[in-house]
Amino acid sequence: MKRIVPMMGLAAVAAVALGIAGAGPGPAKVAYPDGYRDWTHVKSMVLQPGHPLYEGFGGIHHIYANDKALRALRDGGAFPDGAVLVFDLLEAIEADAAISEGARKVVGVMERDAKRFSATGGWGFEGFKGDTRERVVTDAAGQCFACHESGAADDFVFSEYRR
Ligand code: HEC
Repeated sequence: MKRIVPMMGLAAVAAVALGIAGAGPGPAKVAYPDGYRDWTHVKSMVLQPGHPLYEGFGGIHHIYANDKALRALRDGGAFPDGAVLVFDLLEAIEADAAISEGARKVVGVMERDAKRFSATGGWGFEGFKGDTRERVVTDAAGQCFACHESGAADDFVFSEYRR
């Protein structure tokens, strides 16, 4: 029995060193934004066929902000670590002179962490397919930040809070 305690201690140290436990090496991951439908709705927009971004972002999108993101959006100033913005994209169904929401296409997320996501403006970018938690972004710098970079003056955020 005496030997077991130090052995377990060693195993824990080895696990940390190998990155098995805790924040290990490898690219930082954006968390799924649990409960975002209860956050503050910032704005909505419909991109129709013919829009230059239709291919990737066609449909109806609603943008949500958690409390930390909302404060920066509404009152100005930099977005603090922990601020999260969601781009909730649904199909747009046009019928009977109305546009209605269809199935969810993707949940786009921007999560602020100046250190973990320093390579992409201090924002982590991810997309979760439809109603799943399947990650779809393979290259956040190329697929997301390359475009958001043009919003550097506003901390890489395009949306403005509609009062
Ligand atoms: C070609 C440009 C472009 C690309 C590429 C792009 N976005 Fe955006 N994104 C925008 C624009 C424009 C808006 C604002 C939409 C609006 O005003 O409703 C936006 C808004 C957002 C928002 C809400 C916060 C904000 O900045 O307004 C999130 C979250 C978001 N995008 C995530 C992503 C993710 C994740 C990717 C990569 C998969 C991505 N975006 C790729 C242009 C882009």
